[in-house]
Amino acid sequence: MKILVTGGAGFIGSHVVDAYVTAGHDVAVLDNLSTGREDNVNSNAPLHRVDVTNLAAVQQVIASLRPDVVNHHAAQSEVPKSVADPGYDALVNVVGGLNVLRACVDNAVRKVIFSSTGGALYGEPDIVPADEDHPIRPLSPYGTSKFAFEQYLATFDRTFGLRFTTLRYANVYGARQDFFAEEGRVVAIFASRMIEGKPLTIDWDGNQSRDMLHVGDVAMANLAALEKGDGGTFHISTGIPVTVNDLFRKLAILTEYKLEPQRGPQRKGDVYRIALDNTRAKERLGWEPRIHLEEGLRLTVDYFRDQISRLSA
Ligand SMILES: NC(=O)c1ccc[n+]([C@@H]2O[C@H](COP(=O)([O-])OP(=O)(O)OC[C@H]3O[C@@H](n4cnc5c(N)ncnc54)[C@H](O)[C@@H]3O)[C@@H](O)[C@H]2O)c1
Repeated sequence: MKILVTGGAGFIGSHVVDAYVTAGHDVAVLDNLSTGREDNVNSNAPLHRVDVTNLAAVQQVIASLRPDVVNHHAAQSEVPKSVADPGYDALVNVVGGLNVLRACVDNAVRKVIFSSTGGALYGEPDIVPADEDHPIRPLSPYGTSKFAFEQYLATFDRTFGLRFTTLRYANVYGARQDFFAEEGRVVAIFASRMIEGKPLTIDWDGNQSRDMLHVGDVAMANLAALEKGDGGTFHISTGIPVTVNDLFRKLAILTEYKLEPQRGPQRKGDVYRIALDNTRAKERLGWEPRIHLEEGLRLTVDYFRDQISRLSA
């Protein structure tokens, strides 16, 4: 199958590209490298350095490749940035996404797979784990722009027959995650600071919990969505809430970290307890997470150890 992955130079997109290449697909990447890195991109996947907000450039790439499937990972992906500049967030996530959809319709793309968010859509959930039908009430412009794009996908399906699958991710962690980024990347930040023996801060009381999913499992969900799940919206998640204090303890053991964490205030817009029910993905995509938290954390610590020793060499 011929597949274009937008955002394929980023953390998650690059793992999706690797999984598609390994499965024998013909893969290309569209990315402006704003947060992605060229050296994340699989050497078997040509990189088109294009900004999704540039309609003509997006049209040109999609017209020249004529992919069967477009997997759309390119996004402004940080909650605090969306709060600081909601216009930019909407420009990339809504207008940029619409440019991709228009080019898909014009070039007879069969299907779009979209990486949405489960963590930023529901506010403080009424039920944990929440399912996909939970009321939508985002606390950030990022959650709103992601949900708006989900609505556009349904419209393009109804009006132009462009098929889609929406994958609402939990909190994804693993290799290649940017540990300089400020938010939401608790494993990358804790692991990298612990390896270097640096002090770190736990915001709020640390009993706030998240649904932590290893990026390898996310890549497998994107593989399943090539053939299954048309018209569907799925939580790609574990369904299990893990507290930040727990993550701290598990990572401290793996890195032999001895310092006590400093305590910080609650951050605006943070939810306290969330996990996402993945029953629908199990039933309709035939997907379920396979990488247990302990194993995923160990793989991630090994990766950051290697990166940090390379940087300091
Ligand atoms: N990391 C998570 O836990 C998580 C959770 C839910 C959803 N998501 C979604 O998954 C996707 C990937 O997120 P990530 O964590 O890998 O972030 P990332 O920032 O590493 O990846 C985003 C990629 O998109 C590219 N990009 C950004 N703006 C662009 C533009 N205007 N034109 C072209 N390319 C552009 C970046 O260079 C980068 O390679 C995003 O859509 C994000 O919203 C991530």
